[in-house]
Amino acid sequence: MSYEEGLSSTITDWLFFNSWWLLLPFIMLLVVAAFIVAFVLLLYMISPLISPKPLKLNGAHVVVTGGSSGIGKSIAMECYRQGAFITLVARDEVSRNKQNINVVLCISVDVSKDYGQVESVIKQCQEKLGPVDMLVNCAGTSFSGKFEEVEVERFRSLMEVNYLGSVYPTRAVITTMKERRMGRIMFVSSQAGQIGLFGYTAYSPSKFALRGLAESLQMEMKPYNIYVTIAYPPDTDTPGLAEENRTKPLETRLISETSGVTQPEQVAKTVVKDAVQGNFNSSVGPDGYMLSALTCGMSPVTSITEGLQQIVTMGLFRTVALFYLGSFDSIVRRCMIEREQSKAADKRE
Ligand SMILES: NC(=O)c1ccc[n+]([C@@H]2O[C@H](COP(=O)([O-])OP(=O)(O)OC[C@H]3O[C@@H](n4cnc5c(N)ncnc54)[C@H](OP(=O)(O)O)[C@@H]3O)[C@@H](O)[C@H]2O)c1
Ligand SMILES: *[C@@H]1O[C@H](CO)[C@@H](O)[C@H](O)[C@H]1NC(C)=O
Ligand SMILES: *[C@@H]1O[C@H](CO)[C@@H](O)[C@H](O)[C@H]1NC(C)=O
Repeated sequence: MSYEEGLSSTITDWLFFNSWWLLLPFIMLLVVAAFIVAFVLLLYMISPLISPKPLKLNGAHVVVTGGSSGIGKSIAMECYRQGAFITLVARDEVSRNKQNINVVLCISVDVSKDYGQVESVIKQCQEKLGPVDMLVNCAGTSFSGKFEEVEVERFRSLMEVNYLGSVYPTRAVITTMKERRMGRIMFVSSQAGQIGLFGYTAYSPSKFALRGLAESLQMEMKPYNIYVTIAYPPDTDTPGLAEENRTKPLETRLISETSGVTQPEQVAKTVVKDAVQGNFNSSVGPDGYMLSALTCGMSPVTSITEGLQQIVTMGLFRTVALFYLGSFDSIVRRCMIEREQSKAADKRE
């Protein structure tokens, strides 16, 4: 290497070294800009997570449809215990003595048939007890059976009671809530509103429908300080479940038995707490927790911890879910094989 070549390479090295330092302010500027962008993005992410102020149940007017039995009755009792005035709605005349709770008002109406009628009873109860602070849509029926054995009429009636029976009362209270810029609406869906299982071809869609209603309504109502809660109770020990048990296919029973039966008081405690806090999702028990995390999708979130839990657990829970699905499929296949074998045996006799 000649002297000149050595010199020029030293100079380029020197220049390169120096231009590095010259770039430093730009690099710092870039880092600062990146931080600002990240901060703005974080604010954007967190903005839907700001929790609402809890509703004071003491002195509030709570309307519970389906409040004469099962989960609805327990929800009414829980709200009453916390100092709320209760209006119960059911089809059959509800006698106050039979309820062993001091409900203030009992209304007898079918929530799924005539909107005009529902609107007028809601007006009546608002005149007596003041504007509705919280509406609990719990009137509903379940039914299980094999798709081809369910009467066609049943698909319509379940959609009417479980879906329209939640739309009508909500529609009747919402205008006043918007004017007052406060309120809570609860929809009682079901775990069968998060997963479709054998035997629930008529029931599940009516409960899935509530999810679409709840999500859309929440987006409309949030600026008016009205919060929507959708509850997904597991199998709960109620007269409704006893009735459903009578027609339950073997497959449905075996699948249901993989999780237990919950008491209505426990369901009521959890869902009332969630509605008061303005949480969108409300689930009960470990399977309920898993299902809610798995199915959160694009649904609203109400707190930072909830959002973080969903992000962290989703993949893990999906892995667990695959095992559940495998075992449900094998239950269904086993039942079919056994049925065919016993049919073949009958023929041989
Ligand atoms: N039990 C469970 O395992 C379970 C699990 C998940 C979700 N759920 C849901 O939770 C809700 C309550 O279930 P539950 O087991 O507690 O039921 P339940 O014991 O059968 O009680 C149903 C209540 O709804 C009322 N109702 C039914 N149809 C009505 C209508 N068309 N108009 C007005 N009121 C009506 C009933 O009173 P009348 O008959 O006098 O009208 C009764 O008060 C249902 O939506 C159900 O789908 C239940
Ligand atoms: C319904 O059947 C299940 C078993 O599949 C049982 O655990 C439950 O206690 C029954 N519920 C009622 C209310 O009869
Ligand atoms: C759903 O609600 C329950 C309480 O009702 C809560 O413990 C759980 O974290 C929530 N799950 C998700 C995924 O938001």
